Amino acid sequence: MYMDRTLLIVKPDATARNLIGHIINRLEKARFRIVEMRLVHLTEKEARKFYAVHEGKPFLEGLVAFMSSGTAVPMVLEKDNAVADLRTLVGATDPAKADCGTIRFEIGQNIERNSVHASDSDENAKKEIAFFFG
Ligand code: CMP
Repeated sequence: MYMDRTLLIVKPDATARNLIGHIINRLEKARFRIVEMRLVHLTEKEARKFYAVHEGKPFLEGLVAFMSSGTAVPMVLEKDNAVADLRTLVGATDPAKADCGTIRFEIGQNIERNSVHASDSDENAKKEIAFFFG
């Protein structure tokens, strides 16, 4: 049976604080199944390519520097309604505005160092999964 898939990235602020296992635990408790996962250290070029949709935004340079500053962990997650359910679990982009109980509320440091990335649509999930896993 086909299940919806989405992409999550554990960002360098979270890997630096040894929170990979914690995040995986949150995902598994919420019944996401990890179907692919890698440790990566993105180059600036790769980070810029991944976030190409934000070209021209004032925060892009900082974001590229941050995302290429350390280890990140992209993973493909499977679940019914995966994209929307993961966005709910992850919370708002700005941890200060994220709902209580969300991953970003719990461990995000600021709007840039917000611990995790989650695809925002089925279409982008497909593209982002292909970016890391071909
Ligand atoms: P993410 O879900 O990975 O999508 C784009 C990222 O850009 C976002 O999480 C934040 O890390 C970052 N971002 C978005 N808006 C801002 C902002 N106003 N200032 C700094 N970083 C931002």
